[in-house]
Amino acid sequence: MAKHVAHARSRPRLPTLAVALLLVAIFRGLRATSALAWLAPPGGDETAESRSTGRRFLLQESAVAGTAAFWMPEEAQAFRQDRIFNAKQTLVPKIRKYYQKLEGLRDDLILQVEIEAGNRVEYQARPADWYSGLDGRFDGFLSFPGVQDARFGCNPYTIKPGSVVLVARGICTFQQKVQMAKAAGAKSIIVFDERMSKAPLEQQNRTGRVTSKGIQSWSAGDALSGAATVPIERGMTIMSVPAELGKAELDGAMIPRANGTSVVEAIQNGLTPRVLDVKRSKFEDGIDKFIKKDLPKLMTAMEGYSLIQRVSKADMSEPIVAQLKADRLEFEQAVKNRDYAEIRRTFKEWNGHLDSEIGTWELAETF
Ligand SMILES: *[C@@H]1O[C@H](CO)[C@@H](O)[C@H](O)[C@H]1NC(C)=O
Ligand SMILES: *[C@@H]1O[C@H](CO)[C@@H](O)[C@H](O)[C@H]1NC(C)=O
Repeated sequence: MAKHVAHARSRPRLPTLAVALLLVAIFRGLRATSALAWLAPPGGDETAESRSTGRRFLLQESAVAGTAAFWMPEEAQAFRQDRIFNAKQTLVPKIRKYYQKLEGLRDDLILQVEIEAGNRVEYQARPADWYSGLDGRFDGFLSFPGVQDARFGCNPYTIKPGSVVLVARGICTFQQKVQMAKAAGAKSIIVFDERMSKAPLEQQNRTGRVTSKGIQSWSAGDALSGAATVPIERGMTIMSVPAELGKAELDGAMIPRANGTSVVEAIQNGLTPRVLDVKRSKFEDGIDKFIKKDLPKLMTAMEGYSLIQRVSKADMSEPIVAQLKADRLEFEQAVKNRDYAEIRRTFKEWNGHLDSEIGTWELAETF
């Protein structure tokens, strides 16, 4: 009996339906006598250990529901992994986009740029996750490393020292762009999104690669993803460098592609655009619009991704599904209450209950 329980504790990889059903019976029996208390999440301290135990408990409970629904566990397991990988390709980029937009309502910077005398524009900019918080770092003349391949800022280049360098996203990591900008004497770096960045890094800058619909896309931070799928229009993101590489050496931010392109064009036309001032985004200014326009889409994507985490084919009442639903509703309420701290807390909570092995994802991106 102890052997069976130990077996059941790991992910269900059981050879036959008979064994699965036997286990279901054992589980049901144990549950009735509360002998499974050791599998339940301990109350009190929210340690990493207790969180993972809690998650295991949810999955274990779901596994029981799954086998009870007459699914061959191994088959169900493979089916479930496929489902999660696919959803990760399509739903996680949406969730990331809308959630970053939500955080951006408070964290984004507004760059006031003078393109030329009498022509001032404002660009929304998303600070990199290593941003020092010193807005003055983005003040000053804008420069760019060069045309064609040089625009990506992946190779050494020369600019006016002390200027804010504007480089296109793609071809190499944000880390490398920062290194090159630092070597060129830039004050800070602003990356503008490029269509190129939709392809996996190792496929960028390959001749013959098509940029129209149908190419592969890549969701950075999704360690296990990488399958072919529809392209993703990425917009702005929070830039990051992998933890093992340490801290990036220059402040950075990202602006939309159209904005970056127009500044580069202005410079090419002989103008000397500069950032005059940096303002902060105001949460109150955008949250109503977000609630009306974006929240329903974010909730739909989160719901889809939550349901995908289930173990069985069709049982929507599994514990993991119920938990994620509760988390989601809490998050939705926090947004509607316009409570920023609660928004962050509840979103983290929802994320923490996704499958810890294949369901998780990173908010920031590295290239
Ligand atoms: C892109 O490819 C071209 C041709 O292979 C090469 O010369 C160039 O250095 C590459 N650019 C970057 C940024 O890697
Ligand atoms: C900056 O880019 C955004 C998004 O593409 C666009 O809506 C906006 O009009 C641009 N701003 C300016 C001043 O060109």
